[in-house]
Amino acid sequence: MKVKIPSSTSNIGPGFDTLGLALNRYLYISATQRTADAQSLQISVEGYGKEHIATDETNLVYQGMMAVAKRGGTAYRQSLQGIHLQIKNEIPAYGGLGGSGAAIAGGVFLANALLQTKLSREEMLDIAVSLEGHPDNVSAALMGGLTVNCFDNGKLHCRSIKITTRLSVVACSPQFQVLTKQARKILPQEISLKDAVTNIENVASLVAAFIAGDVEALRYTTIDRLHEPYRAALIPGYNDVRKAALDAGALSFNISGAGPTVFSFATKGERKIGEAMVKAFLANGNSSTYEVMTVENDGARVVER
Ligand code: HSE
Repeated sequence: MKVKIPSSTSNIGPGFDTLGLALNRYLYISATQRTADAQSLQISVEGYGKEHIATDETNLVYQGMMAVAKRGGTAYRQSLQGIHLQIKNEIPAYGGLGGSGAAIAGGVFLANALLQTKLSREEMLDIAVSLEGHPDNVSAALMGGLTVNCFDNGKLHCRSIKITTRLSVVACSPQFQVLTKQARKILPQEISLKDAVTNIENVASLVAAFIAGDVEALRYTTIDRLHEPYRAALIPGYNDVRKAALDAGALSFNISGAGPTVFSFATKGERKIGEAMVKAFLANGNSSTYEVMTVENDGARVVER
């Protein structure tokens, strides 16, 4: 059994912990079920960040699988013992492109297919959110498209909007890590009414712009006042990279998720924008790489039975 899980960007400026957008770089996970004499879990990893991906029970794919198996009971848990997982990661691993969300969602999705637990995507999403803590990346990984999430008394409601407008995402990953925990800890617990209203205006208008295919509106609807002004301090050269991307013709500039990856929407000049970002990061002492991606409208899927 082999599954394919999309990467994602999240927040998209004003949609902190609310919006996810699936992208066309993937995590591939193959599972070979245990043989009668298999004793222990085996995990092999290739691709980006393989030296940092755990190959024991703490592996996020395995954690996602176990969360599904635990719901099924002992027999399900036992059937995962001695499983062989092969993980191929195409998602840049410096952080911000939904790598951990894809791993958790991938584990949940794979276990559901393998153990035939017949969970709906919504039920799988609930399990993945309980592990990840917030819904933006895991929802994009499972559902695809632009995901819009909200909680009602702890119950998650997620809608996936399919994006048919031609739109590129130019993402640039500097080669240092920002821990999500750290990037959340620096955020203020209270913001001004003025900033709150700006974010409400922008996130509502951003979703409306995506639905209408109005890419020009991305120029102003992606402005955030809730987290990016604080997180910019964790990304050396943030202002220079932003200016370089916009001067090169980008429609927008945001931190991807909790960073340090940053990204721009664009409809032309993608390479020029990517190269401008890399140059500006370098002028501030950091190497980086860029990727030109598009929106992935399909979420997690089985590619081999
Ligand atoms: N919404 C999350 C954040 C995404 O910005 O902290 C990172 O996992």
